[in-house]
Amino acid sequence: MALREIVYTPDPVLRRKAHKITKFDKDLQVLIDDMVETMREAPGVGLAAPQVGVSSRLIVVEYAENEEEEEDAPKKLYVVINPEIDEASEDMELGVEGCLSVPRMMGEVNRHLKITVKGLNRQGKPVKLKLQGWLARIFQHEIDHLEGILYTDRATKLWRPADDEEVQDNV
Ligand code: NI
Repeated sequence: MALREIVYTPDPVLRRKAHKITKFDKDLQVLIDDMVETMREAPGVGLAAPQVGVSSRLIVVEYAENEEEEEDAPKKLYVVINPEIDEASEDMELGVEGCLSVPRMMGEVNRHLKITVKGLNRQGKPVKLKLQGWLARIFQHEIDHLEGILYTDRATKLWRPADDEEVQDNV
């Protein structure tokens, strides 16, 4: 595994609609492992392929669902290829986001509280995930990356965090 370089705005790859993945070859497996390593090193709780300069529809997310209540809650790793939001709740929730590709910035974004995501796992087998709360938010942020959308486009409020401000998990 190797670390990949994270790309920052205004790199045009972040504004492109990423390509669908059709080949589940060794290169893809290497890319997935590299993205997981890069996300952990950053550190972040999610990463989309365009954020390492690859315009492909692939996201990785690692987050403990009940992290807010339990400090050592087990983390779960998600690798989803060609992810699509299949269902989204009408209920929305405002939350604070940060992005590895938009350094030293935070913003408040309205997201669906619950979503269902369809896609493929790293072997190319179909997966369906029912997600809510923070995890649903992370997936919406990452899937936006595949459309060339940044959270700053959707934010109702944006600010530069003060040096002593607790910075939100980056995605
Ligand atoms: Ni991001």
